[in-house]
Amino acid sequence: MRPLIVKLGGSVITDKRRRFAVKRAVLKRLARELAAAEQPLVVVHGGGSFGHPLASEYGIAEGYRNERQLMGFSLTHRAMEELNAHVIKALQKVGMSAIAIQPSACAMIDDGRIKSMELEPVRKLLELGLVPVLYGDAVADRSKGMGILSGDQLVAYLARELGASRVILGVDVDGVYVTGSKGDTRAKLVRKITPSDWAKLETSFGAPKGKDVTGGMANKVREMLALAERGVEVEVVNAAKPGILKRAILGERGLGTRILAR
Ligand SMILES: Nc1ncnc2c1ncn2[C@@H]1O[C@H](COP(=O)(O)OP(=O)(O)OP(=O)(O)O)[C@@H](O)[C@H]1O
Ligand SMILES: [Mg+2]
Repeated sequence: MRPLIVKLGGSVITDKRRRFAVKRAVLKRLARELAAAEQPLVVVHGGGSFGHPLASEYGIAEGYRNERQLMGFSLTHRAMEELNAHVIKALQKVGMSAIAIQPSACAMIDDGRIKSMELEPVRKLLELGLVPVLYGDAVADRSKGMGILSGDQLVAYLARELGASRVILGVDVDGVYVTGSKGDTRAKLVRKITPSDWAKLETSFGAPKGKDVTGGMANKVREMLALAERGVEVEVVNAAKPGILKRAILGERGLGTRILAR
């Protein structure tokens, strides 16, 4: 059966304004919602207040320029491992056989884009019934030395390579807004985005609320449009609201912003 890929946004499971702040109760609830899945599941999570601040402080996404960044690379990865451990534990507590897959050990990027990734273990573990859990990470970059592989890019890549049936991205807002972001009274929720209407929407985007070294919402949509064009259906939903992620996982459409080929 084709897997479902769900991203737990760093915006949902952490407080992006405070360093290393996991939202434990939210994570616990989301684990229960994920456990409702009736098909093979791959979970990806973002960096939130673990990965982004360190990656930004050391300029990891800009590539290797000085020796100080080596410690930055080490610290960024370690912070992601810590957040990942929280996610894995939360999933295990609700009976899910979650298994961490370390992106920096199996993915190579070049100028920020995935060039190769060893996915045989992921495929086999998924087939056995385990739930692979990957995350945005500091990774080796062929031309720039080092870089950041965002959870969003990872989701798109995995969806393609694993032949996902659908992708659900959980964030802390109701979906994609135009003319601003959360808090902006003029902001309007978009129900559907396709490659053809993206050009005019793209210009009215707000900046991410907290630190986001991988381009926040606009870049998320760009990654997902490329995926939608390959026939994978995507929806961005508000996972901060109880029950929404579960309903999406169980097949409901239209709860947030759908990103589709047409
Ligand atoms: N046009 C927009 N529509 C919706 N949200 C927007 C928009 N512009 C900016 N945002 C902000 O983008 C945030 C979601 O993107 P962000 O990258 O911060 O979260 P995330 O991807 O879940 O986190 P992480 O990268 O850690 O996984 C929302 O919290 C919202 O405040
Ligand atoms: Mg992000």
